[in-house]
Amino acid sequence: MAHLELEHIDKQFGRTQALQNLSLEVQDQEFMVLLGPTGAGKTTTLRCVAGLEKLNGGTVKMNGRTINNISPTERNVAFVFQNYALYPRKTVYQNIAFPLQARQLSKADIDRRINDVTKMLRINHLHDRLPAQLSGGEQQRVALSRALVRQPNIFLMDEPLTNLDFKLRAQMRGELKRIQQDLKATFFYVTNDQVEALSMGNRVAVLKEGVLQQVGPPQEVYEQPVNLFVAGFIGSVRMNFLDCVYDSNGRFLKAPDQAWQVVMKNGRHEAILANGNNDRLILGVRPEDIQFSPAAIGADSAAIAGEIYVAEPLGDRIIYDVSVGTSIVKVKTPPTVRFQPGELVQLNINLERSHIFDRVQEHVIRKTHV
Ligand SMILES: Nc1ncnc2c1ncn2[C@@H]1O[C@H](COP(=O)(O)OP(=O)(O)OP(=O)(O)O)[C@@H](O)[C@H]1O
Ligand SMILES: [Mg+2]
Repeated sequence: MAHLELEHIDKQFGRTQALQNLSLEVQDQEFMVLLGPTGAGKTTTLRCVAGLEKLNGGTVKMNGRTINNISPTERNVAFVFQNYALYPRKTVYQNIAFPLQARQLSKADIDRRINDVTKMLRINHLHDRLPAQLSGGEQQRVALSRALVRQPNIFLMDEPLTNLDFKLRAQMRGELKRIQQDLKATFFYVTNDQVEALSMGNRVAVLKEGVLQQVGPPQEVYEQPVNLFVAGFIGSVRMNFLDCVYDSNGRFLKAPDQAWQVVMKNGRHEAILANGNNDRLILGVRPEDIQFSPAAIGADSAAIAGEIYVAEPLGDRIIYDVSVGTSIVKVKTPPTVRFQPGELVQLNINLERSHIFDRVQEHVIRKTHV
């Protein structure tokens, strides 16, 4: 049982503010993913939870109890490090057995636990090898096994799948999630890969430069990003951001170069007016929420004209770059939709699923009535 609370955590390294006023709760048995680009402070967050860093401010609580001054050992957390940190002179088996030896477990018990875990992670044929005799992916699975054989309060996992090849990584995503559910364990899992975050997390916390941006279920951070950073970071093809200004007379958004305009419904109209920065807006629309079609998609949609610039076929889908005035708009289509560069097209934007951001403040302008 583990319920973790981070309250107003500050952490500095010299002049680097690695974490700033970070507050985040991880529920018992939750799979919480901390997502952010390199240098965001993800590893630092896990190290603060593990007791490996001294905080400059704030409180870490486990099951309601402040643990700021509790030693790492007493915290009983299992940490899978980003760089695995295996003992080079111990075999795979000895590496995994190491955290169990301090406990009063029988040899048979240890054997059974290790066999169960290594079988699950498909490294049970490697027990006698040394780390140097393993591939990066195998070393990573040894590090994972070493965490999984324990029964810690919480699992802290720092990008544990990065060194696996594409296929194994996809497989392990499912396996880890399954393991977490079977063990009824609490996972605090760090990644810079938004696919991992969306597919594994019960909730996703997005971190940028030590500052928490948004926390919510995967669908929520994907569909209702609070700012430009979250909107741009999440999504397998990046969201299109189109500079625009608002014309309150005609109630439409238009490109500064007049290349397009779309009419706004009442709820949006009022939200934009309330925002005030009408001439510095960004329309955010995902490539999957645009269709090539003269027909409207959904009640609230708008068509704009463009020209095919280049096609990027990806097998199961095609990404088209379309010139709209001086901008390029990316559109995701099924592989059967075929266009040649230079063809003139109509883009149908699903405004119900699009977002309007304040270009200066970078936050989303909330839809009020839509
Ligand atoms: N021991 C340290 N001394 C000085 N600066 C540090 C130290 N550890 C981390 N930092 C700095 O703190 C910031 C956050 O680092 P952190 O390792 O937490 O990032 P991260 O999100 O884990 O990045 P990555 O995805 O590259 O692992 C960075 O600017 C980093 O340079
Ligand atoms: Mg890191």
